[in-house]
Amino acid sequence: MSAVVRTLVGLRDWIDARFPLMEQWNAHLAKYYAPKNFNFWYFFGSLALFVFVLQIVTGIWLTMNYKPSADLAFASVEYIMRDVEWGWWIRYLHSTGSSAFFIVVYLHMYRALLYGSYKRPRELLWIIGMLIYLTLMGEAFFGYLLPWGQMSYWGAQVIISLFGALPIIGDPLALWIRGDFVVSDVTLNRFFAFHVVAFPLVLCGLVVAHLLALHEVGSNNPDGVEIKEVKGVDGIPLDGIPFHPYYTVKDIVGVVVFLIFFCAVVFFTPEMGGYFLEHANFVPADPLKTPEHIAPVWYFTPFYAILRAIPSQLGGVLAMGAAVTLFFFLPWLDRSPVKSVRYRGWRYKTALGIVTVSFLVLGYLGVQPPTPTFSWMSRFFTIMYFFFFLFLPAQTSVDEHGFAKLYRQAIRLLLWVLIAAFDISFLGEFRGDKPIAERMSELAPFAIFAVALTAFGTFVEFTRYYRRDQDKPVPQRVTWP
Ligand code: HEM
Repeated sequence: MSAVVRTLVGLRDWIDARFPLMEQWNAHLAKYYAPKNFNFWYFFGSLALFVFVLQIVTGIWLTMNYKPSADLAFASVEYIMRDVEWGWWIRYLHSTGSSAFFIVVYLHMYRALLYGSYKRPRELLWIIGMLIYLTLMGEAFFGYLLPWGQMSYWGAQVIISLFGALPIIGDPLALWIRGDFVVSDVTLNRFFAFHVVAFPLVLCGLVVAHLLALHEVGSNNPDGVEIKEVKGVDGIPLDGIPFHPYYTVKDIVGVVVFLIFFCAVVFFTPEMGGYFLEHANFVPADPLKTPEHIAPVWYFTPFYAILRAIPSQLGGVLAMGAAVTLFFFLPWLDRSPVKSVRYRGWRYKTALGIVTVSFLVLGYLGVQPPTPTFSWMSRFFTIMYFFFFLFLPAQTSVDEHGFAKLYRQAIRLLLWVLIAAFDISFLGEFRGDKPIAERMSELAPFAIFAVALTAFGTFVEFTRYYRRDQDKPVPQRVTWP
């Protein structure tokens, strides 16, 4: 053993006698057994961790030159971009990082939908994940006000005023959040405190809790098989391999590939056509001039489209809240004993396909101006989105009697009520002063969605779509392609 290695081993032993260093290393890395069949989808947890650290580090450097004041904020960002050495790079890393964070987290969450990772025994892990997601949304919302551009200002104004739609507590709540009657310097200061201190601290705590909960129950995998159930004589899962070095090396490959795409955006197209950095945000905030078209950043737009799809403001706010909150209940809405989509029947696969398309289309609609056609499209996809969650218990429950049966009837009825409302409002569009021939281009898309929704209802009836799926048998051990 060379002198250097001997010194390092000595140092390790010295620390280990005073701190559970090797115990933690073994528990979470060297002797943490992860399923050997992880695939592409399992890159995104470690990538989320990587982007989180990147955001904290670049955020600290941005804070060194940023001024949280309504008079100076916009100019201080311009100063960072033009005069601070490498300031432009740090800022683009941070702004691209926020979009990358959401891309990575959305893919990470989607993996859970594919492989049923939210199911027993990982319900708490999922709930902590959802709390991370909500905190991340708050963190991004607070951060977006800081450059004090037109979109920062008016986006915050619109979102905060949504709280005003709540009965009784609405107005005082909006006032309490802003700290003023309009978005002002006071609001900017408190958002800065939340963005830079409070929310990152909460996120750190939640990420630690998330990883502790994960290591308590162990990772799921693309087969949805519990590897802890088949152990060798040494007590090690037969389908498990030590996280370190096998997955640390695999995750480093993931980080390198991620960085290739990430750097391509940072260096060549940091605004990403106005999706990562909106064009209107290069104009200083002007409380007297509302921009023509206010839209949040892309990662909020599916929920924003749901908000706008509902004609009443309170209804829209509640629907938007429900669209996020329903994810918390997934472990209990999904009654299927089978975890992975690989062994689930066509009904779940179709439902997952429908909700995926709906979420993506709603995301697109959320950045578009609310024309009548887009509004009706939003309504159609909002109905499809919610029916994923509402159908899930009916599709996956084994119980043919009692409450389960009643629930099935109730959601079928609800679907037909919504179809009737959609179709009647379509017929109502025929009234009006202009001749029908002139309004054909306006009415045609609406007609397509009225027909599509009616067809969906009919399909549901004839195929008994709401009935439990016939699952393929799940293997005892994990499979390998
Ligand atoms: C800062 C954000 C997050 C970080 C750093 C993070 C980190 C991780 C890591 C490192 C893993 C293990 C590796 C992997 O399975 O990919 C994991 C697993 C998991 N995470 Fe997250 N996560 C975050 C956000 C979320 C969110 C928002 C959700 C859900 C709402 C979530 C749900 C899960 C679930 C269910 C698992 C277990 C997956 C399985 O074993 O199949 N996580 N997370």
